[in-house]
Amino acid sequence: MKRDFLQLQGVDAAYLQSLIDRALEMEQAILRGDKAMRTLEGKSVVTLFYENSTRTRCSFEGAAKYLGAHVINVAVASSSVQKGESLEDTAVTLDRMGVDWIIMRHAMSGAPAYVAQHVKASVINAGDGLHAHPTQALLDLATMYKHFGRIAGLQVAILGDIKHSRVARSNLYGLTALGAHVKVYGPATMMPAHAEEMGWEVCSCTDDAFRGSDVVMGLRIQTERQQGGLIPSAGEYARFYGINRKRMELANPGALIMHPGPVNRGVEIAHEMFGDPRLVKDEQVTLGIASRMALLESVCR
Ligand code: CP
Repeated sequence: MKRDFLQLQGVDAAYLQSLIDRALEMEQAILRGDKAMRTLEGKSVVTLFYENSTRTRCSFEGAAKYLGAHVINVAVASSSVQKGESLEDTAVTLDRMGVDWIIMRHAMSGAPAYVAQHVKASVINAGDGLHAHPTQALLDLATMYKHFGRIAGLQVAILGDIKHSRVARSNLYGLTALGAHVKVYGPATMMPAHAEEMGWEVCSCTDDAFRGSDVVMGLRIQTERQQGGLIPSAGEYARFYGINRKRMELANPGALIMHPGPVNRGVEIAHEMFGDPRLVKDEQVTLGIASRMALLESVCR
């Protein structure tokens, strides 16, 4: 049966919680070295990434392989895309090879939904433009749940380039579905119009975002999605919006520092925070593969 996974908007809380619970089990299996599960034996997955990726692409490949699936990685830079083949033709070509899932990333918001309309395979969105990065949010939810034993009632501050962030949008939908409160702050040039209407609390200053937070999530400055000139300099960004030790004193005791990666060290997160146990970006990576295993297993049923 075709089961696309394109966004978290509209996904119900019970399903999200079941994925988180399973991701935490999968994390334990990975840490035990148990990486030969056979749930997806005989299935095939293609990764089709039109944008660069380390974490998402490799963890989807690892997740599929740990579950016993065959994996085909399309290297877009050396594929017929470079000869001008359209997205639709590329996707249909791969579909006709009999793959079960197409896991795709694209710079255009809506590209995975478009492909899903043209193929028999199930499509999983690995990040599309400014729109959504649902498996990133899933792993972020699993990380928070692992540390706090709940999502409901958590105060989550997301800092930085909210306007260009599909991670922020997907986290908003996932977190609010599970009962967290989401607040945002960043340079005025990086805040979306009508942010309050989307369900975020917009803070009045950086300290306000940190105050009383259980989670502080920094976002990467995405130069590739900006017209340029949105921040005066990386140094000034770090000074006015960066996560540092002094600001973390305003957060709740036991607060986590999260970042989807890749991090611009010394910009979104001060150098002094690397090595601080509150920074869980590497734990997020392990939960990334575990969450994608949980998702693949779920959509396979
Ligand atoms: N967080 C994230 O999407 O990282 P990659 O771009 O490395 O996949």
